Amino acid sequence: MTASLLSLRDVTVSFETPNGVVQAVRGVDLDVAPGEMVGVVGESGSGKSVTFLGILGLLPNSARISGSATVEGTELIGATNKVMRSVRGKKIAMIFQDPLSSLNPVYRIGDQVAEMILAHQEMSGAAASDRAVELLDIVGIPQPKVRARQYPHEFSGGMRQRVMIAMAIANDPDVLIADEPTTALDVTVQAQILEVIQRIQQQMNKAVVMITHDLGVIARVADRVQVMYAGRVVERASVNDLFATPTHPYTAGLLNSLPRVGQQRLLPIPGRPPNMLQPPAGCAFRARCPQVAPICAAKLPELVAHGTAMTACVRHNEIDLSIVEGVPA
Ligand SMILES: Nc1ncnc2c1ncn2[C@@H]1O[C@H](COP(=O)(O)OP(=O)(O)OP(=O)(O)O)[C@@H](O)[C@H]1O
Ligand SMILES: [Mg+2]
Repeated sequence: MTASLLSLRDVTVSFETPNGVVQAVRGVDLDVAPGEMVGVVGESGSGKSVTFLGILGLLPNSARISGSATVEGTELIGATNKVMRSVRGKKIAMIFQDPLSSLNPVYRIGDQVAEMILAHQEMSGAAASDRAVELLDIVGIPQPKVRARQYPHEFSGGMRQRVMIAMAIANDPDVLIADEPTTALDVTVQAQILEVIQRIQQQMNKAVVMITHDLGVIARVADRVQVMYAGRVVERASVNDLFATPTHPYTAGLLNSLPRVGQQRLLPIPGRPPNMLQPPAGCAFRARCPQVAPICAAKLPELVAHGTAMTACVRHNEIDLSIVEGVPA
């Protein structure tokens, strides 16, 4: 196996709040190899964003983070500001959901991309502008030279998201974290943006983490997937295994709540995720789990092997998880 570019070990993130400590992430492991795309999926609040914002040092002061997160061998957790500045953008970069709030409305697009390059590389302004145009071309912006001279309001949502991707790859980082990069876009544009990210991952051999609540996105582009629930990884599998034979009842629930061709009614998972101020003892999913048994309350389940997948269900050998028939829409 190729060495991982990004490795997380037992990462935890908690927040001090007036109501107590929110245990948002409770021991997450992850490895991503060059040229690989790993999906991170789970319902809202499961800790997907906070895990990665935390390792990049982008959380407010109320956040406490522990564990280990290395990028090309450099430890990020507890790193000095100087180390973080040399790593962020250069070795690991993030693509966010909302491009409008990340672009400055009063600067030309090309200048904003060029500024990103100049922040990390010794280069003349003219060379950085040329490189910015090249980057806009790589992410599929037509007439990049003309477009580089325009302002964010002259770009559609999909084009702005392409600009965000151009900025993320401006300093050639080996690891890209995409946090719901297509959630704000309509379906057609969503597919185009996923294509751009996948092309960059494959042609430039990047390690990509694709964070999404949408299993359809995972099915389209990811190689492997980690399913998160209540700040823990509950299942880790190849995309093929996950969709064919899920091993955790939560994954089965997510799959069964996908809209399918010809199906009238969705089957959402009943109930809601637990309050992370007081996560329940034992399996956090047990209150919503159709397969629950007394043993599920005993202790926090660890990931164990089930075939080629890893699952955090103590009953994985006893239960039979049925998936609704039909092709996801
Ligand atoms: N600054 C904060 N202070 C307190 N709690 C926070 C803070 N930021 C996030 N949280 C909590 O951390 C948990 C994980 O949040 P996170 O944003 O990682 O969820 P997510 O899986 O990315 O969800 P979504 O799909 O909605 O983006 C949530 O319970 C959230 O309320
Ligand atoms: Mg999020």
